[in-house]
Amino acid sequence: MKKICFLFAMHAEAAPLIEKFDLKEEKGFFAPLPPVLYKGEHNGKEIFVVLNGQQNGLDLVGCEPATLTAQLVLSTIRPDLLINAGTCGAFKSKGSAIGDVYLSDKNICFHDRRVGDNGGWYEMGVGFYPCMDATEMADELGFKLGRCTTGSSLDMAAEDLAMITKNEGMLKDMEAAAIAWVAQLHNTPLLCIKSVTDLCDGGRATEEEFRENLSMAAQKLKEACFKVLDYLLK
Ligand code: ADE
Repeated sequence: MKKICFLFAMHAEAAPLIEKFDLKEEKGFFAPLPPVLYKGEHNGKEIFVVLNGQQNGLDLVGCEPATLTAQLVLSTIRPDLLINAGTCGAFKSKGSAIGDVYLSDKNICFHDRRVGDNGGWYEMGVGFYPCMDATEMADELGFKLGRCTTGSSLDMAAEDLAMITKNEGMLKDMEAAAIAWVAQLHNTPLLCIKSVTDLCDGGRATEEEFRENLSMAAQKLKEACFKVLDYLLK
């Protein structure tokens, strides 16, 4: 494995990793576009971390910024592996708990693109984009495996839950499928590492639970990214 690039949506999710690897910002690399590049080295290999950037002081979360960042990264840095690292919601009914760390499993779906059920439009909407087989890695490193499912909202509409259930989604986020689509177009392998901040079926208000657990989940995410890097670079 030569070049690995991590994509994050939120600064708070990436900050512990940036600090741990003492990564430095490459100012203006994507100017005038908002994504931000950090670079450094680990075990003699270059490590790249790219954030979607900010607008009005707020992190650019969601599918559009993630698509833009992924396209820029894959056409300029050209990594051998893309890792989408971030936080997610999960389901206690599927055995998840706050602070669990998952690696992406099977393929990656959208859960809020309803464009009809016939003539292939359902599959086009949901995506079912590939991700690398992380079964052995999860086994060796002690992480859970789960299918990521992506939408444009932090909360969950009834229609979203219906689609998540139908497609056996386990990890609800706002970027993975957008990134997976671009990775597929570039034929670049993708792995998602997701740390659970909130339980979609836990009865708490999602935003409140997310904020409460964000820094704990970001610490867990950093440790997981470190373990995955060591596994991939060994
Ligand atoms: N990121 C963290 N928690 C999330 C949730 N419940 N839905 C979408 N993205 C998330």
